[in-house]
Amino acid sequence: MSTGGKPRVLLMHPFLDPGPAILAEAAEVIPYPAGRPLDEASIRQAAEGCVGIVSQLMDPIRETVLSTPGLKVVSNVAVGFDNIDVAAATAHKVMVTNTPGVLDDATSDFAFTLLMATARRIVEADHFLRQGKFKGWAIDMMLGADVFGATLGLVGIGRIGRGVAHRAKGFNMRVLYYDPHPLPPDAEQQLGATRADLGRLLAESDFVSVHVPLTPETQHMLSTPQFEQMKRSAILINTSRGPVIDEAALVQALTAKKILGAGLDVYEREPAVHPGLVSMPNVVLAPHIASATTRTRSEMSAMAARNMATAARGGRPPNLVNPEVKK
Ligand code: GLV
Repeated sequence: MSTGGKPRVLLMHPFLDPGPAILAEAAEVIPYPAGRPLDEASIRQAAEGCVGIVSQLMDPIRETVLSTPGLKVVSNVAVGFDNIDVAAATAHKVMVTNTPGVLDDATSDFAFTLLMATARRIVEADHFLRQGKFKGWAIDMMLGADVFGATLGLVGIGRIGRGVAHRAKGFNMRVLYYDPHPLPPDAEQQLGATRADLGRLLAESDFVSVHVPLTPETQHMLSTPQFEQMKRSAILINTSRGPVIDEAALVQALTAKKILGAGLDVYEREPAVHPGLVSMPNVVLAPHIASATTRTRSEMSAMAARNMATAARGGRPPNLVNPEVKK
């Protein structure tokens, strides 16, 4: 039943102001029942009678959910939408929206944070000190890798890859990028970025940072053969999606010292993290927080709410990832 004639929208998880107020103006908001598991059958059941679902990246929104009668739109509070089967959504004429752009700076900042933290062993150093092991300055204590002037390889040069390249300029880094879509020459020049094939990028980079969406083509794009191509002194950074990297192969490469270290924000089976990674001091691990600044998460919430509100009112939401559904 809807009250006041407003369409019903399932809100999978609480989100941040001003999202709730924007959503409540356009829809009757149905919170996902507390404690209910996040599986497709449960989500389908909760979505019965709703025109929309406001989802987050841990919600599996696939055929079972997308075939719910009357469902018109799924608004993901994320730029990535690999948790949603877009082909199935399109087949069922369900619009899918995301939150591009507003998280580029926070995510680029965080990729650089991981790069610096891993290169200069800051987490390890912090633990060392807190454990009372700092007994005085020593010339060989906590030696790390140089960042200024080093070579950075960007796997993917979309908005976030470009944001990282921009930051790298301040560190006088040589920037290589691999992407099937080359940047226009003026953008390459402005960013000081040179296109390379993946093999060259891996062979020449001191830092490799991943900025591709998760698709069937990018799944396990970095695995044993790619780690073999990297420098033994290289550090791998991932703020995109976990399954782009073969996590078991990464553990093997780190164990065999094929590469020096890794800074990771995302994992293959979140929230699980390969136990091999957890025990390695040369790996910096964050719990998928690259976009987690107060302002960015609030802007993501507002954008997702506006996408949903527009669709619930019968309009064409601005950030439609399957535009063929709504001409
Ligand atoms: C976060 O990972 C996002 O896709 O927004």
